[in-house]
This record gives sequence, structure tokens and C-alpha cells, in this order.
Amino acid sequence: MLRITVLVSGGGTNLQAIIDGIKSGVITNTCLAGVISNKKDAYALERARQAGVEGIYLSPGEYTSREEFSEALIRQLETFRTDLVVLAGCLMIIPEKVVAKYENRIINIHPSLIPSFCGMGYYGLKVHEAALARGVKVTGATVHFVDEGADTGPIICQKAVQVCAEDTPEILQRRVMEQAEWKILPEAIDGIANGRIRISGGKVIIAD
Ligand code: GRF
Repeated sequence: MLRITVLVSGGGTNLQAIIDGIKSGVITNTCLAGVISNKKDAYALERARQAGVEGIYLSPGEYTSREEFSEALIRQLETFRTDLVVLAGCLMIIPEKVVAKYENRIINIHPSLIPSFCGMGYYGLKVHEAALARGVKVTGATVHFVDEGADTGPIICQKAVQVCAEDTPEILQRRVMEQAEWKILPEAIDGIANGRIRISGGKVIIAD
């Protein structure tokens, strides 16, 4: 049974897709061990509470140094007996020490087709604003392993979404969440939990 801890910062719709996926059987062999938010008022924490999952507020701002925060985050992940860390709408840079300790065991959902519209400064609505400004006809979402960079880790899966002429950033964000994020993140977790998806030598290996 894969124990996952989900890191969040906002509304938690991707967390909800995980909660619903475990309940419906889309995600198997997986236990949602806990939720950690760097925002005290994140609705994602309410979603965790409603699902009977422990939700913890843990923010770098509460610690005097990055080092202290790293230690606290690692302690909390260990308390949850975490096998896989899932960044789901998480707008916090994960400290290098945490990335090193959970090497190849942290995944992230990004709302674009990486390598487009990703990296520093590309998060939330900004991603969709940039896609619309560039005039792309197709965008989508990507699940990838997290390394020490920003959205640079090995890609696990992607799903394309049509951009429509009248799209606003908000309309496009919603379509990308509904048609891509909420589907491929649960699929990726289920694949890892059941050994179909693994990483070796920096390469993602997907069994049929
Ligand atoms: C989503 O677009 C997600 O891809 C991005 O943040 C937005 C909100 O995610 N990282 P959520 O509703 O908090 O899961």
C-alpha cells in the first residue's frame, strides 16, 4: 500500500480528485496519509477535514531559517510514513534537502505541456495567461517527478487540451483542470502505486 502525502496551497481541486479517485477505485493500493498546506486558509485543508484526512499547516514563514523549515517538513513527512509526496496546486518551492531525501519520490502536476510555460514565475493563472498571449491552439497538463529545478524533472504523463478562441485565463484554467489535471494526476499515482510507473537513471519507465 503506497502511502502518499499531498502538499497544497489553495483550493485543492487536485487533492479532491485524489480523494475521489481513491474512493471510486480509480486509484488503488494507495493510502492518503496526510495533507500539508503552506497556507493556513487553503480550502484544500477543509477538503482534507471533510474526507477525514489529517491536514497540517506548515509554512516557511513560521520558521527562522530554511534549514529549520526543511527539518520540520521532513519530520512531518516521516510522521505520515510517506512513500510518495504529491504536489497538487502547491505553490511552495520544496527545499533541496527534502528533494534529496525523497529523491524520485516527489511528483508534481503542472498546468501546461512542459517544456512550454513552465519554470520560475509560471504558476496558477499566469500559465494560462502566457498560453493565451502566445496564441497556442493546444495546451494541457503534465505530471512529472520533482528534481532540484523548477518544473524540470522527468515527465511521467501529459494530456492535451484544446484552446478556444473566446477563452479567458479563468475559462482555460478550468478546462485544463477538468479535462487534464484531475485525470492524469490520479492515473499517475495509481501507476506508481501498482508498479507500472517507475524511474531509473533519470528515465521514466512505464510498463504496459
Ligand atoms: C491548478 O491549475 C494547478 O495545476 C496549479 O494550481 C491550480 C489550483 O490547483 N498548480 P488546486 O485547485 O489547488 O488543486
